[in-house]
Amino acid sequence: MHLLLYAFALLVVLSNASPLYRRAPATIHSTCTVPGTFAITVDDGPYNQTWDLIKYLNEQNVHATFFINGKNWVDVATDSTLTSDGEKTYMDHVRFMHSSGHQVASHTFTHQILTDLTEDEIIDEMNMMSDLIYEAIQERPRYMRPPNGAYDDATQATLGNLGYEMVLWDLDSKDYINHNATVNERVFVQAFKDEDPKAQVTPAAISSKPEVSKPTPLPTGSHIALMHDVHYQTGPELIPWLVGQLRTRGYKMTTVADCLDDPRPYQ
Ligand SMILES: *[C@@H]1O[C@H](CO)[C@@H](O)[C@H](O)[C@H]1NC(C)=O
Ligand SMILES: *[C@@H]1O[C@H](CO)[C@@H](O)[C@H](O)[C@H]1NC(C)=O
Repeated sequence: MHLLLYAFALLVVLSNASPLYRRAPATIHSTCTVPGTFAITVDDGPYNQTWDLIKYLNEQNVHATFFINGKNWVDVATDSTLTSDGEKTYMDHVRFMHSSGHQVASHTFTHQILTDLTEDEIIDEMNMMSDLIYEAIQERPRYMRPPNGAYDDATQATLGNLGYEMVLWDLDSKDYINHNATVNERVFVQAFKDEDPKAQVTPAAISSKPEVSKPTPLPTGSHIALMHDVHYQTGPELIPWLVGQLRTRGYKMTTVADCLDDPRPYQ
């Protein structure tokens, strides 16, 4: 009888216990850490331009990171779209990203602003997205980006406990505001100007030294750039322009995990 009571009391305590935070709050990454790397990141897809964007990146031998939703612009579990390779389901898209070496990451299931949600709702958003990605590629993402970049201490704690790393950005194309690639390019043009190695050399230093042809110095900056493969200009115009610029300047275009020197993109 005594033992039974004890067991009952323990059950009550356990069922009322607040969630155990076994892990630290999620780490937030806003930039790459490996010098000279550049992570192209695309949010909110997959959508009808995504298949051909993946093909383009593959032809260019560039790896990018896709922060995908399950139900945002399309229902990934059930919808399909016409591509240059015929009709493809969105689950095929997720498999194509992964098999091509791009990083598949989570942007939540329905693109809810996480600071508006309860802890249980955040857990549902993350687990539903993780389950869908698992169904497609038999991997669970370890990297996520909170919709609109919105988070607070509670969000960070919950995401950390679920085993996620959080990814923000340091260069924002604002392709979701201006649907014009020329306008979206400006933030990158400015960043390239700011860190052009030649611009760091003073005119006096140039004139006091004899002319020697040196190899172009590699860029030392490293960036995480925010884009969205749901706005018509981004896949067909902005990203090809950016890839050309980055190649000319010697940046290494990698996934987010690679630009952080992390060998584990998945949980
Ligand atoms: C994607 O769908 C939108 C909305 O129907 C359409 O305007 C756009 O042209 C489509 N883009 C592609 C690449 O099919
Ligand atoms: C895009 O923006 C540029 C620069 O402001 C402008 O010259 C161009 O006409 C715009 N293109 C469209 C299609 O609006």
